[in-house]
Order: sequence, then structure tokens, then C-alpha cells
Amino acid sequence: MNPTSQHSELRNLPTRATWWLRRYWERFSNRFRKAPGPGAVDEPSGGARKANLKGRFCRNPFRQLDLEPNGAAFACCSSWLPTTMGNIKSQSLDEMWNGHAMQKVRESIYDGSFRYCRHDRCPVIMDGRLPSIEEAEQHPVYGEAVRERRTKIDNPPIFLNLVSDRSCNLFCPSCRTERIIHKEGPQYEQAAQLQQRLLEPYLDGGYEGEFELSITGSGDPFASRAYRELLYTLDGEQHPNMKVALQTNGVLLTPRNWERMKKLHNNVSTILISFDAATEETYNITRRGGHWATLLENCRRMGELRSKGEVKYMRFDFVAQADNFREMPAFVELSRELGADHAYFSKMLDWGTWPHAEYLEKCPWEPGHPSREAFMEMLRDPIFDDPFVILGNLNDYREEALAGR
Ligand SMILES: C[S@@+](CC[C@H](N)C(=O)[O-])C[C@H]1O[C@@H](n2cnc3c(N)ncnc32)[C@H](O)[C@@H]1O
Repeated sequence: MNPTSQHSELRNLPTRATWWLRRYWERFSNRFRKAPGPGAVDEPSGGARKANLKGRFCRNPFRQLDLEPNGAAFACCSSWLPTTMGNIKSQSLDEMWNGHAMQKVRESIYDGSFRYCRHDRCPVIMDGRLPSIEEAEQHPVYGEAVRERRTKIDNPPIFLNLVSDRSCNLFCPSCRTERIIHKEGPQYEQAAQLQQRLLEPYLDGGYEGEFELSITGSGDPFASRAYRELLYTLDGEQHPNMKVALQTNGVLLTPRNWERMKKLHNNVSTILISFDAATEETYNITRRGGHWATLLENCRRMGELRSKGEVKYMRFDFVAQADNFREMPAFVELSRELGADHAYFSKMLDWGTWPHAEYLEKCPWEPGHPSREAFMEMLRDPIFDDPFVILGNLNDYREEALAGR
């Protein structure tokens, strides 16, 4: 700890006591509050922080569809853009894609307000990585629509993000309160039907444009029967226009399961693997039900495939929280050693698995949090200057940490 941080720790002492008292009072009074559920939002759309985004562009409302377990569709992660475009159970793809909500969202990109987006959560807004609208005007698929500032667009979504099944071998405390596996029964049937309905026009309807299928931000591709059935049966040669992006906790990314999806190997564009720790001890807290040694073994092997070019891109992910933030620099080293292209960080959001006050205790970036200065000090580490690191929605805190040096 440097002298400056020691001073501010001392200055914060009275604030700290108040902070804990307030949290415990909130925890007590919120005890019976209904949890909003994973992916839900607890503040009005837009959040408190508003970035000036005039002249910037977000591609998601022009290319992305996220399919959630109840059939609701979003043009982005619903934690970042909570406005639904409709529901696939009762609407056609075009009704949703060019419906009123999506037209308003696209209008908000053109006018630079991004008023449907959570400016305080979106890692691309917070990291300053949004491209310019001029760049978007050159895009081969939606460039013409952007040039003409059209809110209805001709291309269908070309990035299909399946978040329709929450089945996972892990039950991380930040994500859920119990293990969820839908092997059969109505929830499995629904997940299978919804994905079939979404994918039919792309896989069986003669769609020839390029598109990417992402599996999954909701559960695990290898723990979910609905997703496994897709991954192990789809023949990539029949769909050369399809790319596949995997997002997994990595524990079931075993040689056997990788081999089972061999007909898709050439289609796999991206593999994202979540760690949320850099040591076994912390992993056992943040990733309940996981297996550290297996994760490392699987990642090392995927790293070898990456170095041979058999995997095109591999990113390791870390969701920061009070239990693990001290391991962020070590995670950068570990990711590099295992052969990732990037180490990616984000902050843990309130997915309703704890009472809100308890969640806040796990957020060291919160003003007045007893570990805030330690968190800021950790962010001053020059290791985060490396382009290998993506700080996402933690970027603002690093800027603040460096400015307050
Ligand atoms: C829900 S998991 C599903 C995909 C896959 N099973 C995995 O582990 O990557 C997707 C990502 O969400 C992250 N996550 C879990 N709880 C979160 C929370 N409360 N806020 C933000 N991200 C969270 C996980 O760490 C993981 O990187």
C-alpha cells in the first residue's frame, strides 16, 4: 500500500463504519424483497452515468438477437440493453427485428443518445470502444441502411446468441442459488423448441448470408442437453456460412466433448472461457461446482490448439468481485501462460442471487466500500496497460485510480 492510499484509508474510517451500518440496515429491511432474478435490472434504463456518444455507433441492434428462456428476444445482453424486441413464441423474426421497439433503439443510436442502453454497465461504452458511425456506414451487411439512417433494415440478425437454456454444471453464487439442469421435461422441451424456431430459417430455410451462432451466456454449452444436441449434430460443411462462438466455464471442454463436435471445428470462430479466479482457493468460492485442475488442463490443451491455428480466437474471462479482485494481475499472467488472445474483465452485476445490500458488500468499486482503496491500488498495476488486457466496464475505475495517484 502506498502512502497516499494509507491516508485515504484513514480518512475513510468514519465513512466505513457508516457504510457497514447502512448495508446491514438495508440487508435487514430488504430481506423479503423479491429477487429480480438473473439478468434482471434493478435501476431504470440508462443508469446514472451518461456518456456523450454523438457520432458513435453500436452494431448490436443491427446484427444481434439474444434468445432468452421464455422466448423474449433482445438485441444485446439484456443487462446492458433491457428493452425487449418481442417474443419468438408469438411473433415472427421480422415482426420482432423491425418492430417498433427495435426502430426506436436504432433511432437512439443514430441520434447519439443511446437512451435504451445501460451506460453504466455496457463494457463497450465504458471502455470507449464504440466505432464511429462513418465506420458503420462501410459495413457490407448493414452499411447502406446506416448511410440512409433507416430504422427498418433488410438483413436479418446475423449474430444469434442462444441464452435460452440455463442448464449448467456449475452454480456460481453470483449467477444462481442452485444447480440447474434441464435434461428432460417442459423446460428442456421449451429450450429445444425455441432454438429450433429461431434457427430454422438459417439452417433449413436456404439463408446464404454469413451468420454467427453463439452458445451460451446463460448456462454451459456442454452441460445443456439442448445445446449439446445442436453442437454434436450440426455439420459445419453443410453450413459454411455459419460461425460458432462458444462461451463456457471450460470444465466440460474435455478432449472427448471437443471431439464430439468435430464436424463444427472449422466453424468455431471464438472460445470464451470463464475463470473468475487465478487460484484454486478463490475459484472454489466464485465457481461453485467447478474443478480447477480440469479447467487448467482443458485450457492448456485448447491453448496448444490455438497456437497451431486450430482454434482462431480464445479469451479468458474474469468477473470481478470482493472475493477475487486481488487476483486480477495474476489472472493476466495465467491467461497469457495458457495461450489466450486476451484476458477480459468485467464487474459483477446484481443478478438477484443475494439481497441487494449483500451484493453491494461484494462490490469493492462501490464508494465507501472498505476495500475500495485496495481495489483502486490493484488497478494501478501497469500490467493493465497491456493491450492483451480488456478492462471492459472496469475501465472507468482504472482511469479514476490512475488520476488519483
Ligand atoms: C452465466 S455464465 C454462462 C456461460 C458459461 N457457463 C461460463 O461460465 O462462461 C456467463 C458469464 O457470466 C458471468 N457472471 C456470473 N455471474 C455474474 C454476475 N452476477 N454479473 C456479471 N457476470 C456474471 C460468468 O462469470 C461468466 O463469465
